[in-house]
Amino acid sequence: MAGAPRFVKVAAPADLPPRAARAVRVGDRFVALFNVDGAVHATDNVCPHAGGPLARGRRGGPCGEIVACPWHGWRFNVRTGESPDLPGERVCTFPVRVADGCIQVAVENP
Ligand code: FES
Repeated sequence: MAGAPRFVKVAAPADLPPRAARAVRVGDRFVALFNVDGAVHATDNVCPHAGGPLARGRRGGPCGEIVACPWHGWRFNVRTGESPDLPGERVCTFPVRVADGCIQVAVENP
Protein backbone atom coordinates (compact mmCIF):
# COMPACT_ATOMS: atom_id res chain seq x y z
CA MET A 1 0.00 0.00 0.00
CA ALA A 2 1.36 3.39 -0.97
CA GLY A 3 2.02 5.86 1.85
CA ALA A 4 2.36 9.61 1.80
CA PRO A 5 4.85 10.85 -0.77
CA ARG A 6 8.35 11.37 0.56
CA PHE A 7 9.67 14.76 -0.50
CA VAL A 8 13.39 15.25 -1.12
CA LYS A 9 15.18 18.61 -1.20
CA VAL A 10 16.53 19.23 -4.70
CA ALA A 11 17.26 22.96 -5.11
CA ALA A 12 16.87 26.44 -3.69
CA PRO A 13 14.15 28.64 -5.22
CA ALA A 14 16.88 31.06 -6.34
CA ASP A 15 18.32 28.27 -8.50
CA LEU A 16 15.18 28.29 -10.65
CA PRO A 17 14.20 31.81 -11.71
CA PRO A 18 11.15 32.42 -13.95
CA ARG A 19 11.21 30.34 -17.17
CA ALA A 20 14.34 28.51 -16.02
CA ALA A 21 14.76 24.74 -16.07
CA ARG A 22 17.32 22.41 -14.60
CA ALA A 23 17.92 18.73 -14.11
CA VAL A 24 18.42 17.21 -10.69
CA ARG A 25 19.04 13.68 -9.53
CA VAL A 26 16.69 12.09 -7.03
CA GLY A 27 17.93 8.63 -6.15
CA ASP A 28 18.25 6.77 -9.43
CA ARG A 29 15.99 9.15 -11.34
CA PHE A 30 16.80 12.26 -13.32
CA VAL A 31 14.12 14.87 -12.80
CA ALA A 32 13.57 18.09 -14.76
CA LEU A 33 12.40 21.15 -12.84
CA PHE A 34 10.62 23.93 -14.70
CA ASN A 35 9.57 27.35 -13.45
CA VAL A 36 6.24 28.21 -15.08
CA ASP A 37 4.87 31.58 -14.04
CA GLY A 38 6.54 31.29 -10.64
CA ALA A 39 5.32 27.76 -9.96
CA VAL A 40 7.74 24.86 -10.08
CA HIS A 41 6.78 21.70 -11.96
CA ALA A 42 8.73 18.46 -12.16
CA THR A 43 8.83 15.83 -14.88
CA ASP A 44 11.08 12.93 -15.71
CA ASN A 45 14.13 14.45 -17.42
CA VAL A 46 14.30 11.49 -19.80
CA CYS A 47 12.18 11.93 -22.93
CA PRO A 48 9.94 8.89 -23.53
CA HIS A 49 10.86 8.87 -27.24
CA ALA A 50 14.58 8.12 -27.08
CA GLY A 51 15.89 9.55 -23.83
CA GLY A 52 16.59 13.19 -24.66
CA PRO A 53 17.22 15.56 -21.73
CA LEU A 54 13.98 17.53 -21.39
CA ALA A 55 15.43 20.18 -19.04
CA ARG A 56 17.57 21.35 -21.97
CA GLY A 57 14.59 21.77 -24.28
CA ARG A 58 13.28 24.96 -25.79
CA ARG A 59 10.29 26.38 -23.95
CA GLY A 60 7.08 27.62 -25.50
CA GLY A 61 3.44 28.31 -24.71
CA PRO A 62 2.09 31.49 -23.14
CA CYS A 63 3.78 30.83 -19.78
CA GLY A 64 6.57 28.50 -20.85
CA GLU A 65 4.56 25.43 -19.95
CA ILE A 66 5.52 23.58 -23.13
CA VAL A 67 8.98 22.05 -23.49
CA ALA A 68 10.32 20.67 -26.76
CA CYS A 69 12.81 17.84 -26.43
CA PRO A 70 16.20 19.01 -27.75
CA TRP A 71 16.80 15.77 -29.68
CA HIS A 72 13.79 15.35 -31.98
CA GLY A 73 11.32 17.99 -30.88
CA TRP A 74 8.58 16.01 -29.16
CA ARG A 75 6.68 18.47 -27.02
CA PHE A 76 5.20 18.05 -23.54
CA ASN A 77 3.18 20.22 -21.21
CA VAL A 78 5.29 20.26 -18.04
CA ARG A 79 2.20 20.88 -15.90
CA THR A 80 0.40 17.71 -17.00
CA GLY A 81 3.10 15.65 -18.71
CA GLU A 82 0.87 15.27 -21.76
CA SER A 83 1.97 15.80 -25.33
CA PRO A 84 -0.05 18.49 -27.12
CA ASP A 85 0.78 16.83 -30.45
CA LEU A 86 0.75 13.07 -29.88
CA PRO A 87 -2.37 11.72 -28.15
CA GLY A 88 -1.47 9.23 -25.48
CA GLU A 89 2.19 10.21 -25.24
CA ARG A 90 3.25 11.67 -21.93
CA VAL A 91 6.18 12.11 -19.60
CA CYS A 92 5.94 11.31 -15.88
CA THR A 93 5.24 14.22 -13.56
CA PHE A 94 6.07 14.41 -9.87
CA PRO A 95 4.64 16.34 -6.90
CA VAL A 96 6.60 19.48 -6.03
CA ARG A 97 6.46 21.77 -3.03
CA VAL A 98 8.52 24.60 -1.60
CA ALA A 99 9.13 24.03 2.09
CA ASP A 100 11.85 24.96 4.56
CA GLY A 101 13.29 27.31 1.93
CA CYS A 102 13.86 24.50 -0.58
CA ILE A 103 12.23 23.09 -3.67
CA GLN A 104 11.26 19.53 -2.82
CA VAL A 105 10.18 16.73 -5.15
CA ALA A 106 8.54 13.40 -4.38
CA VAL A 107 9.38 10.45 -6.60
CA GLU A 108 8.72 6.79 -5.97
CA ASN A 109 11.70 4.88 -4.63
CA PRO A 110 14.11 7.86 -4.58
S1 FES B 1 14.47 11.80 -27.67
FE1 FES B 1 13.00 13.31 -27.24
S2 FES B 1 12.01 13.63 -29.12
FE2 FES B 1 13.40 12.05 -29.52
